[in-house]
Amino acid sequence: MKFGEFDISTPLCLAPMEDVSDPPFRRLCREMGADVVYTEFAHCEAVVREVPSQCRKLAVSGDERPVGIQLYGSTEGAMADAAGRAEAEGPDFIDVNCGCWVKKIANRGDGAGLLRDLPKMARVVEAVMRGTRLPVTVKTRLGWDHDSIVILDVARMLEDLGVRALTVHCRTRCQGYTGRADWSWIARIREVSAIPLIANGDITTPADLRTCLDLGADGVMIGRGAIHSPWVFRTLRHWLQTGEPLPEPPLRQRVALTARHLVEHVAYHGAPRGVFSFRKHYAGYLKGAPHIAQLRRELVQLTEVGEILARLDAYAAELPDDGE
Ligand SMILES: Cc1cc2nc3c(=O)[nH]c(=O)nc-3n(C[C@H](O)[C@H](O)[C@H](O)COP(=O)(O)O)c2cc1C
Repeated sequence: MKFGEFDISTPLCLAPMEDVSDPPFRRLCREMGADVVYTEFAHCEAVVREVPSQCRKLAVSGDERPVGIQLYGSTEGAMADAAGRAEAEGPDFIDVNCGCWVKKIANRGDGAGLLRDLPKMARVVEAVMRGTRLPVTVKTRLGWDHDSIVILDVARMLEDLGVRALTVHCRTRCQGYTGRADWSWIARIREVSAIPLIANGDITTPADLRTCLDLGADGVMIGRGAIHSPWVFRTLRHWLQTGEPLPEPPLRQRVALTARHLVEHVAYHGAPRGVFSFRKHYAGYLKGAPHIAQLRRELVQLTEVGEILARLDAYAAELPDDGE
């Protein structure tokens, strides 16, 4: 699959995730084997108004490429303008969010709201294509609800428009995160469209990856699985290359990864905000650690990075020599 000048077979992609897929996390996931990373979504009108918090989301760096900047919104002029501004940051492609399910976004016609008005979706995507010379991709869901699944029409329409890749979170907007992602839609999309296709939703294991590839996906995208286990990309790539499972990284390595990510996260977000927002990673990074519940309780009570690093060091020092 092509991502600008990069040609990647079976890309394993880090999902765009607000408050998660920031530059430190994207870099970490690239090191852990993610082939392609996406920024958090930025709202087109806020970008055009130069709202600092949104413009900051557009910043990408050379060492994380290939990287896509994701935009959302439904005002065509602002989408075109924002795409041009995003291009100036140096990404490899621009992704259009047509899948965000959050009420205040979807109900005003942005994100998954575009699934209720496909002509509008087409105009928004065309506006982005007018605003940038970069390849444009789209990420969406199956449809608004179970009775209005439109993904087959969407795939055909976007392929005709020249969209370079389609990522499908295989749930409807109304499902939010309930139920299971229905990957069988990947095969149905494949029957009607040749658009490069990235499967998304509940993918964490080699078996999930195998199923999605067998159904016709060209690549997969991982969101929540990476929040807990950023090494998931390495595990999946190893399995693709060898057919063998890869054990979880030893606990000592995971403690070191926690410390390193914390430092980079706080350097980016500042303290104490970054200390608080990092807490979502502890449970996954330290899964299976002896006395994890107590360790987590202690870590979430600390507000100084230095104190947290000292506690992690002390914890690592108590681990047996084999690192587990
Ligand atoms: C914390 C969080 C933030 C998210 N933010 C975005 C976003 O900015 N743009 C987007 O397209 N999807 C966003 N998503 C959805 C994910 O990209 C992905 O489609 C969804 O989580 C399903 O994949 P998963 O089962 O691998 O997590 C977000 C998901 C989470 C959990």
